Amino acid sequence: MLCFVSPQVAPAAFDAMDSYLVLLLRIPVLCYLASFVIGGDTDPGSLSSADGVYNSSFTPSNLPWNTYNYCNAPHVNAKHYSLPANASHPKLVYMNAVIRHHKRSPDNLYPEENELNSVPWDCSDFSQFSYGGSGSHVFHETTSPSWHPFLSQIWTGSCDTGQLTKGGFDDATAHGKDFWSVYGRKLGFLTSVNEKDIFIRTSTETRTFQVASGFLTGMDPATTARSFPVTTQPSPIDSIVPSYSCPAADAIRDAYQSVPAWTDHLDANADLKARLDATLGTANRSDWASWYDHFFDTFTSRTCHGHPLPCNSTGACVSEADAAKVVAIGDWEYNYIWNAADNATAYNQLTFGVFIQELAQNFKLFRSGGDPYKLRFYVGHDGSMIRLAALLGLGKVSPLRWPAMGSEIVMEVWQTKQDEKFVRVIHEGTPVSGLEWIPLDTFISSLESQVPAHIFELCNGS
Ligand SMILES: *[C@@H]1O[C@H](CO)[C@@H](O)[C@H](O)[C@H]1NC(C)=O
Ligand SMILES: *[C@@H]1O[C@H](CO)[C@@H](O)[C@H](O)[C@H]1NC(C)=O
Ligand SMILES: *[C@@H]1O[C@H](CO)[C@@H](O)[C@H](O)[C@H]1NC(C)=O
Ligand SMILES: *[C@@H]1O[C@H](CO)[C@@H](O)[C@H](O)[C@H]1NC(C)=O
Ligand SMILES: *[C@@H]1O[C@H](CO)[C@@H](O)[C@H](O)[C@H]1NC(C)=O
Repeated sequence: MLCFVSPQVAPAAFDAMDSYLVLLLRIPVLCYLASFVIGGDTDPGSLSSADGVYNSSFTPSNLPWNTYNYCNAPHVNAKHYSLPANASHPKLVYMNAVIRHHKRSPDNLYPEENELNSVPWDCSDFSQFSYGGSGSHVFHETTSPSWHPFLSQIWTGSCDTGQLTKGGFDDATAHGKDFWSVYGRKLGFLTSVNEKDIFIRTSTETRTFQVASGFLTGMDPATTARSFPVTTQPSPIDSIVPSYSCPAADAIRDAYQSVPAWTDHLDANADLKARLDATLGTANRSDWASWYDHFFDTFTSRTCHGHPLPCNSTGACVSEADAAKVVAIGDWEYNYIWNAADNATAYNQLTFGVFIQELAQNFKLFRSGGDPYKLRFYVGHDGSMIRLAALLGLGKVSPLRWPAMGSEIVMEVWQTKQDEKFVRVIHEGTPVSGLEWIPLDTFISSLESQVPAHIFELCNGS
């Protein structure tokens, strides 16, 4: 496996929605591992890694249920849910949960995208509805006319970039069903799926609304017959991606991606990068050179949907071994940027402080008896999940990996017979070591400690 330069803190990223493509960095790394690099197999049809599933939403039954699955993360479910161990007869009284959206088409395109897909991207099985409140129920279908002069830049098929697929929607529905199996059926905490008990917030990306829709359907199929509000913030200041501008944070990140701890890994993998560039036509593209994010996205989006790794028009393909290296490097990069780097915490606090402020407010409102909701549920992106994981301290337990599709962090509040309240944090369906029974007041204080005072002024350098 990878060697982590300095295991410490946090992760976070954005679905390649990174406003951030601008890290002109360099790189080398240190220790890779033989175990990652599954040797020599060049079957382009599957991407395997020593420790994860990247080619199916369904984790094979011979693997543990909570195996890392990039296509569809493990999450809370009745079969593997356990009550808090220590208190006698505690009662669940409140919760917040945050998930990443489910699987989608690639967010990034190769310069000659069309030639690099032997299988079209078909989204005709999933209608894209979007319409004004009182109007007709319009949906749109994506077509790429054969005469379009720019067709070389997009795949053949009916999917746009970064579009939730039918498979992703189905995974979101199954996720909602599992969530209900615990918080509805097993615990009876939620008694019906309605907007009085459940507050839902998403980003402004369509796929996050669609995941909320699938999730609600899974919790209660009857919700398909009606409307359900989700809340968003204006995209320029949305805290969930996050997408508010923070030049001071960008400068901090640029600095820690300009030192050997980061640049060494780019240098060390120059051969890999050259092979990928030759096959994919990505040479000299700075956003493909500053990190492995785009390679990771374009490979895993394919393999999660049963598409082969890309082959170019001369028949040369990205090898499974190279793809396995890319996903390993992707994990390493996410852990470095959001967890392990010197100053990663400062970066996370600035870029995610506004979201953490909202969480802190939620729990304080609950504590004061004023939160009308039982559940506040958020659908975000990989950048949301990695920052939240890091700021909650999950990266202190073990290095953070790239948050998988449907990645989930649940924060439960339990009340004891003595009326004491405790928080339990569950990550990908498993309680987090050290965060299994935190006094509510302590939890709130630790959230607040991650929110810089005067964050707007700090971000903008004044
Ligand atoms: C996924 O990859 C693994 C490892 O290469 C392979 O055993 C499995 O059959 C593949 N699954 C699918 C659905 O392609
Ligand atoms: C971290 O921040 C400190 C204080 O601004 C700075 O001196 C240091 O160079 C930064 N480290 C890195 C790796 O950027
Ligand atoms: C296809 O990939 C091979 C191997 O990397 C490379 O030599 C060739 O130039 C590429 N062809 C095109 C058309 O990109
Ligand atoms: C990339 O840049 C190098 C150096 O400037 C140049 O020699 C090479 O032809 C460029 N490659 C492509 C594919 O543009
Ligand atoms: C549970 O109880 C055991 C034994 O009293 C204690 O060591 C442990 O720290 C407790 N765990 C939590 C999460 O409170």
